[in-house]
Amino acid sequence: MKRIALLTSGGDSPGMNAGIRAVVKYCLYYGIEPFGIYDGYQGMIDGRGKILTYDDVNNIIQFGGTILGSARCADFKTKEGRAKAISYLRSEEIEGLIVIGGDGTYTGAKILGEEMNIPIIGMPGTIDNDLFGTEYTIGFDTALNTVIDAVDKIRDTATSHHRVFFVEVMGRDAGFIALYAAIASGAESVLIPEEITDIEKLVNDIKTQNKGKRSTIIMVAEGDDGGDAFEIMNKVKPYLPEFDLRHSVLGHIQRGGSPSAVDRINATMMGAYAVDLLKEGKSHLAIGIIGKDLVTCPIVDAIKGHGQPNLSHLQLIEKLRTR
Ligand code: F6P
Repeated sequence: MKRIALLTSGGDSPGMNAGIRAVVKYCLYYGIEPFGIYDGYQGMIDGRGKILTYDDVNNIIQFGGTILGSARCADFKTKEGRAKAISYLRSEEIEGLIVIGGDGTYTGAKILGEEMNIPIIGMPGTIDNDLFGTEYTIGFDTALNTVIDAVDKIRDTATSHHRVFFVEVMGRDAGFIALYAAIASGAESVLIPEEITDIEKLVNDIKTQNKGKRSTIIMVAEGDDGGDAFEIMNKVKPYLPEFDLRHSVLGHIQRGGSPSAVDRINATMMGAYAVDLLKEGKSHLAIGIIGKDLVTCPIVDAIKGHGQPNLSHLQLIEKLRTR
């Protein structure tokens, strides 16, 4: 294999740069030319890419975002768009492709693999941690730490003012960030899309858990069936006249920042593994981490469904808040 292309696509996530660095340096170690494509599939359609050098990826491991840029590309969903992308890959003599992203990125890779005979390897890059076939996606750990840091700060002011805070976190339609951030920040309740939200129970929970406490944190996953944090706060408000309620939407701060050690290490391992897999002639595989092991599953399987957070943690949170 002489030339491997690499792109990052969909929502960026901290650690993507560590993954890019590993792919590029590992390619160079093997005498393979690494070829970076800018702004995900959009850059592939527009013909925007270049051969990457050692210096291009030096000292980037510590930065959030992605030096290659990212995009959510509507054009790639069309046959014409993909035809342009394929002709670009052919003109640049690309012999293998590594994509870093979430389920949209993998869906693009799957369709591309059906229309062009090119080996493709996927690396899971999304803060949502919702891909099937891996317990861990690049960026999830950093996003969790960002959320925890923010919630600790919210807790300070909530405690000073004796308030109940509804904190909305990202995750699209998955509750991983909310659930694990709730455990790590000592939130009193967590509302996730994987479990139906019972407003009456929430009201009762707030009343009971607030006894003797100066603050309450309700972690709300953005995709929760009960609504967003503002909506849920307004649903419980009429039943809690004695409480001072506030909401806070953490938003895109969760996607930025210097990647954690976990994200840097795992992205580096996965990047090197992706190059090895292509060298071994493997194709159409998504890399994952299960336990401490690097694993693979077919890209088609990785997008069949979502990974599920461990719902028994909901009981853990409930038990821990009980006086
Ligand atoms: O998939 C990552 C993610 O940050 C989700 O958690 C969120 O719902 C979405 O992307 C936001 O997308 P955008 O940055 O395009 O608004």
